[in-house]
Amino acid sequence: MDLMEYQAKELFAKHDVPVTLGRVVETPEDAKAAAEEFGGQVVVKAQVKTGGRGKAGGVKLAANPDEAAARASDILGMDIKGHIVHRVLVAPAAEIVEEYYFSFLVDRANRSYLAIASVEGGVEIEEVAHTNPEAVAKVAIDPVAGVDEAKAREIVEAAKFPAEIADDTVAAIIRLWQAFVAEDATLVEVNPLVKRPDGHVEALDGKVTLDDNAAFRHPEHAAFEDKATTDPLEQRAKEKHLNYVKLQGQVGIIGNGAGLVMSTLDVVAYAGEAFDGVKPANFLDIGGGASAEVMANGLEIVLSDTDVSSVFVNVFGGITACDAVANGIVAAFKLLEERGEAVTKPLVVRLDGNNAELGRRILSDAKLPGVEQVDTMDGAARRAAELAAAR
Ligand SMILES: Nc1ncnc2c1ncn2[C@@H]1O[C@H](COP(=O)(O)OP(=O)(O)O)[C@@H](O)[C@H]1O
Ligand SMILES: [Mg+2]
Repeated sequence: MDLMEYQAKELFAKHDVPVTLGRVVETPEDAKAAAEEFGGQVVVKAQVKTGGRGKAGGVKLAANPDEAAARASDILGMDIKGHIVHRVLVAPAAEIVEEYYFSFLVDRANRSYLAIASVEGGVEIEEVAHTNPEAVAKVAIDPVAGVDEAKAREIVEAAKFPAEIADDTVAAIIRLWQAFVAEDATLVEVNPLVKRPDGHVEALDGKVTLDDNAAFRHPEHAAFEDKATTDPLEQRAKEKHLNYVKLQGQVGIIGNGAGLVMSTLDVVAYAGEAFDGVKPANFLDIGGGASAEVMANGLEIVLSDTDVSSVFVNVFGGITACDAVANGIVAAFKLLEERGEAVTKPLVVRLDGNNAELGRRILSDAKLPGVEQVDTMDGAARRAAELAAAR
């Protein structure tokens, strides 16, 4: 789960990383009230899960409460890279002497962690890495040893942070590492980390990605979930523990295994070109050992998407063989009927792999309404696209 800036800063504050929290508001009036409370100059910042807000006009200074209200009114409702702004953070404006970049992340290629630091902060680090690679220091972190004072100093020196902020930065880096570990994050990024006129450093921006696999250890992280901006279908799928991503097309997709589902999206998009450009409506991986209930839940989610005109169930029998999947589909139809959500959209099923023959027979004997079987993936994708275009 990615956090918004204000949430990331709340986590930073919990671990004593220097930040100024400010207040999150949803209306210009509340922005004005917050600015009155802080007094003096404030910054109004769009809270959306994407970077480059500053460049897009989503971060503005305001000299007084009325200006804060005006800037909030400009920013609320803005579309920043496809993210609509529903909330802004109002915080006291910081006096910035210099901007730096700092992050900890999982380095999968090297099976370890990585610290990235640069004195060229504020701008996108990918850009710095491209135009001025020497300015970007990368220091590997041994997962067992972690980051102690010596390691933090090594990072600060590798990045050539100025001597007068070295001690302060070392302390901040150690705390960021503690936050990274304690919160089970896969990314902690501070851009910019700034030097203030008093010589201390402060995190002015924060980006944190939490590892969802560790969510069970952090019931308190559930509060970070942003139900307002999550797609309602994705939210329901999540509650049913389904691996579902809503897309913009018309052909519902259900498959077993992420790789198979990804390639199913490709073949459906390709087949759809011949049929008014219909496209896949979602990604849904029901996993290896999908039970009838999981299949029913998956079908229910996909079919309740009003954009969906046909569904393509693409299964390669492995540990869970095709007969089990076929029985799952049959049981799912019954379950859905019992729930009062009988299937009314056409379904194209392709079963291959372990026990394919048996699975196909079970399905044809069941004579489920609207269900067609096609033996090949390309053929099935074509048929599903054709059915979607015809509705
Ligand atoms: N509290 C603040 N006070 C003053 N300037 C700020 C403050 N927060 C951000 N800025 C300025 O705005 C720029 C962009 O803000 P940032 O939070 O990094 O958003 P983004 O990375 O999405 O563009 C920063 O690099 C900094 O120069
Ligand atoms: Mg930033």
